[in-house]
Amino acid sequence: MGAEASSRDFDLRPGEVAVPRPEGGDASLLFIGRIHTPWTSRLDCPRQGRTDGPLCRIEVFEPWVAALDGITAYRHVEVVYWMHLSRRDLVRQSPRTDGTTTGTFALRSPVRPNPLAISLVELERVQGASLFVRGLDCVDGTPLIDIKPDRCAHSPTAQAQP
Ligand SMILES: C[S@@+](CC[C@H](N)C(=O)[O-])C[C@H]1O[C@@H](n2cnc3c(N)ncnc32)[C@H](O)[C@@H]1O
Repeated sequence: MGAEASSRDFDLRPGEVAVPRPEGGDASLLFIGRIHTPWTSRLDCPRQGRTDGPLCRIEVFEPWVAALDGITAYRHVEVVYWMHLSRRDLVRQSPRTDGTTTGTFALRSPVRPNPLAISLVELERVQGASLFVRGLDCVDGTPLIDIKPDRCAHSPTAQAQP
């Protein structure tokens, strides 16, 4: 049996701010924003984003914009997003369409039971509710799940603008 949360696990620490949790999402996930890229179809996207790729905009929805405070201290952030156009029922896949197949969990394919994608991107600037980044590989309009600072680095190079 797994551990259970106690009421103390939900206590606010000094300075922390809680907001009412909106309804919605898939499997209890909340889409906290939307990713804007130049690519309108999956075929146009790069297989993996590159930090010398095009500038993309991550739009963060309210009430989560306040959660961006401090993010400009990081040059690189991990972006977690939901590959909403993926099928979710394959256990073996043939990425090269050459007759050979590989198990889904041995691939970074967007086709998986829970189509989460992760990219380490370069944060160029933050402007209000928008993060401008390089290194994404998803179609325009892909839902955003989370943003996390790069665990290895703390280098204040991104610029915050009102
Ligand atoms: C191989 S995945 C890699 C994703 C992420 N960088 C990772 O490693 O978890 C990137 C590919 O997913 C596909 N793709 C992009 N956006 C998608 C979306 N919203 N739904 C389904 N597939 C998508 C495109 O074919 C793109 O080349």
